[in-house]
Amino acid sequence: MAAKDTVVIVLAAGKGTRLYSGVAKVLHRVGGRSLVGHVVRSCQPLKAADTIVVVGFQADAVAAAVTPLGAKTVIQNPQRGTGHAVQSARRAIRRSAKFAVVVPGDAPLLRTETLSALIAAHRSGDAAATILSAQLPDPTGYGRIIRKNDGTVAAVVEESAASPEQRAITEVNSSIYCFTLDKLWPSLASLKPNNVHKELYLTDAIALLNERRERVLASIAPDPNEILGCNTRASLADADRIFRQRKAAALMASGVTIYFPESVVVDAAVAVGRDTVIEPGVQLLGSTKIGERCTIRTGSIITDSRLDDDVYVEPYSVVTESRLAKNTRIGPFARLRPGADLREGARVGNFVEVKKSILHEGAKAPHLTYLGDATIGAGANIGAGTITCNYDGVHKNQTTIGKRVFIGSDSALVAPVRIGDGAYVAAGSTITENVPADALAIARGRQINKPGWSAARRAQIAKELKAGSKPKSRSKSKSKRARTRRKTSRR
Ligand code: UD1
Ligand code: CA
Repeated sequence: MAAKDTVVIVLAAGKGTRLYSGVAKVLHRVGGRSLVGHVVRSCQPLKAADTIVVVGFQADAVAAAVTPLGAKTVIQNPQRGTGHAVQSARRAIRRSAKFAVVVPGDAPLLRTETLSALIAAHRSGDAAATILSAQLPDPTGYGRIIRKNDGTVAAVVEESAASPEQRAITEVNSSIYCFTLDKLWPSLASLKPNNVHKELYLTDAIALLNERRERVLASIAPDPNEILGCNTRASLADADRIFRQRKAAALMASGVTIYFPESVVVDAAVAVGRDTVIEPGVQLLGSTKIGERCTIRTGSIITDSRLDDDVYVEPYSVVTESRLAKNTRIGPFARLRPGADLREGARVGNFVEVKKSILHEGAKAPHLTYLGDATIGAGANIGAGTITCNYDGVHKNQTTIGKRVFIGSDSALVAPVRIGDGAYVAAGSTITENVPADALAIARGRQINKPGWSAARRAQIAKELKAGSKPKSRSKSKSKRARTRRKTSRR
């Protein structure tokens, strides 16, 4: 590992013109995390004296992404190229630093081990600069490494300046370097903007070091994917795919079953316990943590949520900022919005939406329900079609349902309202008053049965059809209405 004589410089001031975006390139995301966030995290275990991020375009937003990770920032304004970016970092580098690791902010797949190996190669190689290079079958877009006969590096040539012979070279510059600082500064000072963009290219420092008879080495990255720079949307998608493949492979290696791993989207920070099964098309996002022996069935999307052990998520459930305790079961087509808190053994079934609500142990809402701003007691049963009317147009109001309560189907609970422990709400009720414990509440229109009404109507229609006239509508037939009224019995 690098020591206190080494600093890391992350180049993250550029705009990222080739993305055609309103957002700085290094803030675009791969695996649910910003490019520069990946880069800084890969540098953290090096324990360098400082990690200095050069910011410029959208400096505040980029700084906000990296300062929580312990990095310092320096401003490069205007942005006059990668060489100028390193020059801008100089004022933040402490005198005791002998070596600098330079990393571009757009290489999210870089691994710490690769950086450590680069630093070790640089130290043992006694060079002024050591470049991390890679062999790419298609080197398009990258600077090419020009080696001398003795194997050391003479220059890096950008593609725009390369001759046809140089373009055929497949060893490319990753833009990841280790420099000996006192040898770098004089060469950096002599950079000239000799290119179409009128920028100061860090790559030109390599030829300048050679002019000063300094030694430059290149060590080839074992996995060329690691150096992928995300200059375009296509390379961003490539990096994201590779990142997610790596993540799925790591989870499988730790005991998670994933079917069709290429269809599963798992963010960087997600953790999953062993013997959990993840079906095709699942997305596990943000800070989600999933316990052991869970099943996450196809099409479910779980974001920033915590699932304990033995949770079963049926297909196409959407879970956001929610908590599911042991042995809970949801879906298919469940929607848990922020603040859904399912305690042990609770169940939420199909087409049930839950927001900011607790379902205590063993509570069930199996079908077609909205529970918002509610507390549901242990063992309560919420019938199909129950709605907590939590919003009065101005305020959100609480519904409190006690233990072992039974809410009959198609009930509306107009909040604020409390249903006492063990109470029973009759189906189809609109509950606007509190219900005492163990009571029955019925709040619906009374039923009227009219014996023979339907048969009489059929007979009347048949008679009219026989007479050749159009059947009269019920409302116009006064005599029939009178007849029916006479026969009506009320409960
Ligand atoms: C650079 C290298 C190229 C290498 C490739 C690898 C140069 C001139 N070219 O090209 O040899 O093959 O990386 O991915 O260095 N940045 C600043 N300030 C600036 C300009 C850029 O901080 O003034 C930052 C960018 O935000 C980016 C990084 O430097 O994170 C690299 O710049 P970029 O424009 O992506 O360089 P490439 O064209 O990819
Ligand atoms: Ca780049």
